[in-house]
Amino acid sequence: MISPITHSIPGRPNIIRKFGEAARRADAAGYDIIEIHGAHGYLLAQFLSPLSNKRNDQYGGDRAGRMKFPLAAAKAVRENWPEHKPMFIRVSAVDGGGGWDVEDTVAYAQELKALGIDVVDTSSGGLTGLSTALPVKRALGFQVPFAAAVKRGAKIPTMAVGLILDGPQAEAILQSGDADLIAIGRQALFNPFWPVHAAQELGCDTDFGMWNPEYGWWLDKRKNNLPAERAATGQVK
Ligand SMILES: Cc1cc2nc3c(=O)[nH]c(=O)nc-3n(C[C@H](O)[C@H](O)[C@H](O)COP(=O)(O)O)c2cc1C
Repeated sequence: MISPITHSIPGRPNIIRKFGEAARRADAAGYDIIEIHGAHGYLLAQFLSPLSNKRNDQYGGDRAGRMKFPLAAAKAVRENWPEHKPMFIRVSAVDGGGGWDVEDTVAYAQELKALGIDVVDTSSGGLTGLSTALPVKRALGFQVPFAAAVKRGAKIPTMAVGLILDGPQAEAILQSGDADLIAIGRQALFNPFWPVHAAQELGCDTDFGMWNPEYGWWLDKRKNNLPAERAATGQVK
């Protein structure tokens, strides 16, 4: 049971309302999880950062004013998305230009948690400069410290993303308590079977049981026969 679409704010009723309506459509379409894109210089991120938010009304000014519109949008989605379905929000933990920092994101995440948002998907940058500008130095797992800071600071589950390449790296992040979920971007383009390879790397799937049953058994049989077949052709591996 979900509440009717009633949430609005004076002067901006349509946009907030449309966030709620979008959530309803996503539910009707059968989605299990919804995520607001509030990062990378999109509308919500533009409100948050003083580098882009120059308003002198109630939606600008100090951090509380700048958070007002994004929080109203998140509230509208939560109110129009079934309670039992998880709601995520993607944030830029830092705006890349020094206007919005991790401590701001922690304060924001505390408010999001109070609204019933389940997971903060912690990215960074995208507000200023070129879309390819680097907000933080690129290294494996370069945004994991942001996910950790938000998780610990706001006591809300987080999702880590950014140069997470294999199962053991992903598992180490989860085991360290820095994040609760892992998101994969380019590695999934590179290897669409990433999840089942990760399961094998972590010893969770030794017999291709997580693969498509139509052919998993065949890959398993091949794996078992390969040593003998390689030996027969003189390969040592
Ligand atoms: C082809 C491509 C398209 C992307 N499009 C989006 C996008 O529309 N919105 C977004 O938030 N991130 C987008 N990203 C960024 C990814 O969601 C992810 O945060 C980023 O690639 C870092 O993770 P990775 O190192 O696992 O790829 C895109 C990345 C790629 C490679």
